[in-house]
Amino acid sequence: MVINSVEKYKPKLHFAPKQHWLNDPNGLVYFEGEYHLFYQYHPNGSTWGPMHWGHAVSKDLIQWEELDIALYPDENGTIFSGSAIVDWHNSTGFFPEEPGIVAIFTHHLDKKDGSAPVQTQSLAYSRDKGRSWEKYKENPVLAHESKVDFRDPKVFWHHETNKWIMVLATGQTITFYSSANLIDWQFRSEFGEGKGSHAGVWECPDLFILKDENSSEEKWVLLVSIGDDVELEMGSRTQYFTGSFDGNTFITDQVSVKWLDYGKDNYAGVSFSDIPKEDGRRIYLGWMNNWRYANQIPTDGWRGQMTLPRELTLRTIDGESFVIQKFVKEVDSFLTEKIPLIEKIQKGSKKVVVSQGPIELDIKIERMESKLFAITVHHTKEQSTEITFDAVKNQIILDRKRSGAIDFSEMFAHEQLIDTKLTDSINLRLLLDSSSIELLVNEGAYSLTSLVYPDQICSELTISSPEGTIKVQGYLSSLKK
Ligand code: FRU
Repeated sequence: MVINSVEKYKPKLHFAPKQHWLNDPNGLVYFEGEYHLFYQYHPNGSTWGPMHWGHAVSKDLIQWEELDIALYPDENGTIFSGSAIVDWHNSTGFFPEEPGIVAIFTHHLDKKDGSAPVQTQSLAYSRDKGRSWEKYKENPVLAHESKVDFRDPKVFWHHETNKWIMVLATGQTITFYSSANLIDWQFRSEFGEGKGSHAGVWECPDLFILKDENSSEEKWVLLVSIGDDVELEMGSRTQYFTGSFDGNTFITDQVSVKWLDYGKDNYAGVSFSDIPKEDGRRIYLGWMNNWRYANQIPTDGWRGQMTLPRELTLRTIDGESFVIQKFVKEVDSFLTEKIPLIEKIQKGSKKVVVSQGPIELDIKIERMESKLFAITVHHTKEQSTEITFDAVKNQIILDRKRSGAIDFSEMFAHEQLIDTKLTDSINLRLLLDSSSIELLVNEGAYSLTSLVYPDQICSELTISSPEGTIKVQGYLSSLKK
């Protein structure tokens, strides 16, 4: 089968634009039966350029229909990242008849005289389920006299104080504002000094409550993406803080940095607004890329894709709260029946799968006396990605240096690591698509998201255990035809 160069690497289960450049997910909102995915989009090229909001909708979070561009640059600047909400009670006055969607985004204005660009927050609204958009006449609604980095507003309704809250990235801090009408904003507080990682500019925050999986405990979680910086070995990356929020101030109880992902390719992710109460999930989507090489990845005519949507919860591990990630259940209906997989591998390696398309592996590995084992995805005869589990180093290592195209970036080939004490029994969910591997370890306690550019998704998958016996139990499924 000959694949044309545009279709090569195009994902089958992930959202990617038909053509041109995409970065951050924006304005994730559910309204009248549809999930809306807006995204940073450059419609005139496949590298980053003057930003617009592209738009796609889905009924099931997996099949997306690309719609017309929602927001175009104007005299206030190009359209940077932001969020969207449903204005159920017409607090803005934009919806005298029926509720509709409001987008709250950053206007980014480059100055002709070479002085620093200006970033302000603006509004746009849609009365027809996101199909057409009107910018608010009095934009911008929030500006700052001196902050250059002043962007990526995430807005939500805070029931206890009866106010809209805006969470904004402001250089090396997150600033909270509140408003009754989305138009007039009051400063509440600033968070971040001396907290977490400051290795790059803070971007794309999100703030929401998560429930503990095993108790009734709830905590607020603040996501903060950190832009690429030469000193960052990993390139751009997302950290999070757990804590409390009272409508004014966010207080964290944590001391060390918590990473949302241990792979290089999950950035600027945020969660959906207005998911119905009966559903109750917190659904997250990230941009599956890294600013270090985002403009160089070897796709033709299109660039950028999203992670699979993931459901977030909390789990207490050794007395501390961690964010847990699972692929949304909707993905299951696109995969074939689960085929049971039971193997005892005695010192050596075993071919466990022969496949062509995207696959998902959901397995438990009992490592018995073995200190080392590996899963190798053979994309083709020559190209493979290896995931090694090392109980001596206490690491899970994903090595993509033989995975296909890698030489567009020096750093792409570096190993990606999860530092963790390997338990005797390890649970893994591995989803392989045309140009990505998403690995979730121990029921979503760790996530490692990694792009790969092989000529073919998978020809064979082997599990090897060079030292002793291991037991593999679980399921395999592949994409439904
Ligand atoms: C994050 C980011 C945002 C900004 C957007 C511009 O990836 O840098 O801070 O709004 O991308 O495209």
